[in-house]
Amino acid sequence: MARVLLLLSLFSLLVSVAISGLTRIEHSLKNDGSLALLVIGDWGRKGNYNQSLVAEQMGKVGKELNIDFVISTGDNFYENGLTGVDDPAFEQSFSDIYTAESLQKPWYTVLGNHDYRGNVIAQLNPALQKIDSRFICMRSFIVNAEIVEFFFVDTTPFVMKYWTNPEDSHYDWRGVKPRKSYISNLTQDLNSALQESSARWKIVVGHHSIRSVSIHGDTAELLQYLLPVLQKNGVDFYVNGHDHCLEHISSADSPLQYFTSGGGSKAWRGAYMPNSDKLRFFYDGQGFMSLKLTKSDADIAFYDVSGQQLHKWSMAKINQGVLSQAM
Ligand SMILES: *[C@@H]1O[C@H](CO)[C@@H](O)[C@H](O)[C@H]1NC(C)=O
Ligand SMILES: *[C@@H]1O[C@H](CO)[C@@H](O)[C@H](O)[C@H]1NC(C)=O
Repeated sequence: MARVLLLLSLFSLLVSVAISGLTRIEHSLKNDGSLALLVIGDWGRKGNYNQSLVAEQMGKVGKELNIDFVISTGDNFYENGLTGVDDPAFEQSFSDIYTAESLQKPWYTVLGNHDYRGNVIAQLNPALQKIDSRFICMRSFIVNAEIVEFFFVDTTPFVMKYWTNPEDSHYDWRGVKPRKSYISNLTQDLNSALQESSARWKIVVGHHSIRSVSIHGDTAELLQYLLPVLQKNGVDFYVNGHDHCLEHISSADSPLQYFTSGGGSKAWRGAYMPNSDKLRFFYDGQGFMSLKLTKSDADIAFYDVSGQQLHKWSMAKINQGVLSQAM
């Protein structure tokens, strides 16, 4: 309880609803005007499949970078989300695993398709913050930190096969049905929020990949409905999970960069299916990503299960133009 109260006072979240209809959270920068964070996806397996090892390394890198928050790209609880707000998996897969001091920060979290196989209303319930105040999970929302705006997008409802061919799984579509108007409302809200944004960096986060060379590959519905909105509005990065690996792909026809961070636990799928965009980095194993931002620079890095840095990429921006990109 003491920890919860301390954290609540540290975060003192400012939450409001933007004109676009998406909830907006204000997050302050460090005193030097920078921001640092980690991205992890596809993790909640009660420490198994090296989830605990990845968590330990996140703690170390998080301390080095003095991170401000963590982004989770979804599939937070395997195999079937949470059963309710009292599901012990919440603590077994989250609170008891990410125990490092540096990770005691807000975790801005979207839902993955496995989360939709459980009780979604429970996973979205702020009552979970009474158990662990770090866990901030919403369907689609904005985190604004002056120089950067993060647009979190609920991508599972886009994917047709979960609706038409759920196989043995049950998807919790409460509050989502009908799919068509959900998607059209969401893409419109996102489009207006992006248009309104004056942030230097615009970063969109979702569970499903737009582009991926691993087993799930590209997500056709996101190429169709989401990608045009991102390209039209000059989004810098799209960050996702879903494929249990680490990837960096550069769009061939726009400045957009795709980053997959889905290596939170079970990995090693052994698939490789190239697409027509430029693959800069692919690691078919466990790990996570870091992002450091200032007004003019973005630094991205990927780490494996032993904390070794596997790939590094930087980008500089002056006004709205891209100045340079360096490996
Ligand atoms: C966990 O990581 C170790 C390397 O530290 C590796 O040898 C092992 O195969 C990994 N286990 C799984 C389940 O991926
Ligand atoms: C889409 O937006 C309209 C108008 O605000 C609303 O009536 C409808 O319920 C929304 N549909 C979904 C699925 O959220």
